[in-house]
Amino acid sequence: TICGSAVTVYQLKMMGGIVFLQEGPRLSSITQIDAGLGKVVAVNRFNQAFVLIGTRWYRLSSVSLKHISVGPAGMWGASNTNRVYKSVAGNMLQSSGIYYYYFHVNKCSLYCPTCSSSLILYYSCSPNNGCWGVDTSFRRIVPSNCGNSGWLYVAGQSMTMIEVGTDGSVFGVNRSGQVFQRIGISIRLPQGSAWRSVPMCMSIRHVSYDLGRLWAVTTSGLLMQCTH
Ligand SMILES: *[C@@H]1O[C@H](CO)[C@@H](O)[C@H](O)[C@H]1NC(C)=O
Repeated sequence: TICGSAVTVYQLKMMGGIVFLQEGPRLSSITQIDAGLGKVVAVNRFNQAFVLIGTRWYRLSSVSLKHISVGPAGMWGASNTNRVYKSVAGNMLQSSGIYYYYFHVNKCSLYCPTCSSSLILYYSCSPNNGCWGVDTSFRRIVPSNCGNSGWLYVAGQSMTMIEVGTDGSVFGVNRSGQVFQRIGISIRLPQGSAWRSVPMCMSIRHVSYDLGRLWAVTTSGLLMQCTH
């Protein structure tokens, strides 16, 4: 793995299906990113929300957001005071609903009954592969449909976050900032069979996956983009 800072494309190596890693378009101090249906949105540490259009980031609105999500259900955000916002014709409008700390405004439905329990800390859904979450022990990933039942523990890695792409691909970040992809996922085996390491040259805090692209935010707030 060769990492440089001055060049844009600094790694050209076949690694488990991910072909090359390049520095993503510049937006500093990112704390969270979400990609879905070809759109990419992010929040920085000043709670400013941005959308990526082409190779440039544009401020979404003046509303202060701690988390933003985009997918088939549209674009949703949450403020520091847990107010929920939905993007309507380019404006973030306040909506009814509760946004629990650390919870994704998920892509299947805004409110999932399971979220009201304190079991699930991090939560992400796709129309193609149900929902995955990380429980309070940070030790297990639990795939399910959007309902209350059918949760299944998946051992193997102690994850801090899990992200399901619109196409059903599942990526997680373990407690050491290492990225993994869940492999072996099928209709008969929705929980998949194993974790495959996705080597990164830096410690990762957050990932999102859409249309063959893995977006990764490093612990230091740098955005990276890996292309299949
Ligand atoms: C994260 O994954 C790496 C690579 O497999 C491993 O060395 C490390 O121990 C893992 N961290 C935790 C907290 O499990």
